[in-house]
Amino acid sequence: MARKLLLEHAHVEGISTYEVYRKHGGYRSVEKALKTMTPDEVVEEVKKSGLRGRGGAGFPTGMKWSFLAKPEGVPRYLVCNADESEPGTFKDRYLMEKIPHLLVEGMITASYALGANTSYIYIRGEYSWILFILEKAIAEAYNAGWLGKNIMGTGYNLDLYVNIGAGAYICGEETALIESLEGKRGNPRIKPPFPAVKGLWQSPTVVNNVETIAAVVPIINDGGDEYAKIGLGRSTGTKLISASGNINRPGVYEIELNVPVEEFIYSDEYCGGIKNGKRLKACVPGGSSVPILPHYLVCKTASGEQRLMTYESLSDGGFATGSMLGSGGFIVYDEDQCIVRNTWNFSRFYAHESCGQCSPCREGTSWMEKVLRRMEHGEGKMSDIDLLADVAKKIEGNTICPLGDAAAWPVNAAIRHFREEFEWHVKEPKLCMERNFGLASEPVAAQQ
Ligand SMILES: Cc1cc2nc3c(=O)[nH]c(=O)nc-3n(C[C@H](O)[C@H](O)[C@H](O)COP(=O)(O)O)c2cc1C
Repeated sequence: MARKLLLEHAHVEGISTYEVYRKHGGYRSVEKALKTMTPDEVVEEVKKSGLRGRGGAGFPTGMKWSFLAKPEGVPRYLVCNADESEPGTFKDRYLMEKIPHLLVEGMITASYALGANTSYIYIRGEYSWILFILEKAIAEAYNAGWLGKNIMGTGYNLDLYVNIGAGAYICGEETALIESLEGKRGNPRIKPPFPAVKGLWQSPTVVNNVETIAAVVPIINDGGDEYAKIGLGRSTGTKLISASGNINRPGVYEIELNVPVEEFIYSDEYCGGIKNGKRLKACVPGGSSVPILPHYLVCKTASGEQRLMTYESLSDGGFATGSMLGSGGFIVYDEDQCIVRNTWNFSRFYAHESCGQCSPCREGTSWMEKVLRRMEHGEGKMSDIDLLADVAKKIEGNTICPLGDAAAWPVNAAIRHFREEFEWHVKEPKLCMERNFGLASEPVAAQQ
């Protein structure tokens, strides 16, 4: 059985209440940090743990914290990114619904480390019911003296607020989130300056994902070194994976970062294999933004190594033959699924969610959606395939924020690995409406 650091008590009855959470060791990290450690020591412990941001980019959290500017007399802020809008990702929702106090506890310990006296949780508009769960947990924490003035007589003050967004994916991008939190339209900012220097209200700010902040709790309780013992290499600790698609056991799993992908898909501890005994066709391992992997690259890398659920192994081969761990939105496709339709579906999402600030993203995402729509509806041309790849290439790297890249990567990867299927949509439009293409043929080099 894998070690669980975040979801260990997720199924304990009443764990969402303060009393039960406290009975199971809740708020120990706050006691330990505030009473026995300096803020810098907390940062050091997080650095030692090797924790990497769980929001998608995987940037080392301790390093990010140490970049926070500390000008005299200027407030600092911690903002928790609970916008979770990446298709395929629902692990933050699970964590906040089941154990809201874990996030509240992490927010207090992390805010102390960063010297923040006001912190925010920014939650996506569609998670309105979780707003109430969090507000209840925060009220309980105030009542118990973990929030407010002079926490546990240490002289440390912290106020924690929840802010609900209006349902825009772009507001998950940290600078758009900050704009939205300030009451403005959620358009990403040009960087630099980075939020660590000029973030919320032009003050130094750290934005971290829900899971990243929750992971601070076991790190402070058990020590950074203990946390770093779990996992493999630079992929330390545990990770929440949102598993969905054609699998027998969809859900949220906490894995140690070294589980073989094959085990994750087929073992009964996790996804329990492909539904209805079908064959695996493809997998998007890290949310809709990351490159799709065809069946022959899911469980092993192009060099024949076993593929592991780690940042490094999932990206082995770069974008040519690899993908990314991303936000851990693990989507599995069986042999009956249509890659063109899936790519169109993702493209529709990005075209809808582009904030429109940068022309390559605003125009490019709509064009990709339009071309994919006509291909899926049997009205595509052979030249559309290269047109799509060309539009995707022109978006990539040419926008203020990575939403453009997130829209381009799935299209690029789908064409790279499933070109025959795109061609089939053009050559046999009627046939492909009746039945799907099946598995991609393996390049000769990969078969050997
Ligand atoms: C379009 C877009 C949407 C994003 N959505 C989220 C999100 O919902 N949750 C999240 O934690 N990070 C999201 N990110 C990443 C954030 O910008 C940021 O990197 C992250 O919150 C940092 O937290 P971490 O270091 O703990 O991973 C998004 C990025 C982009 C470009």
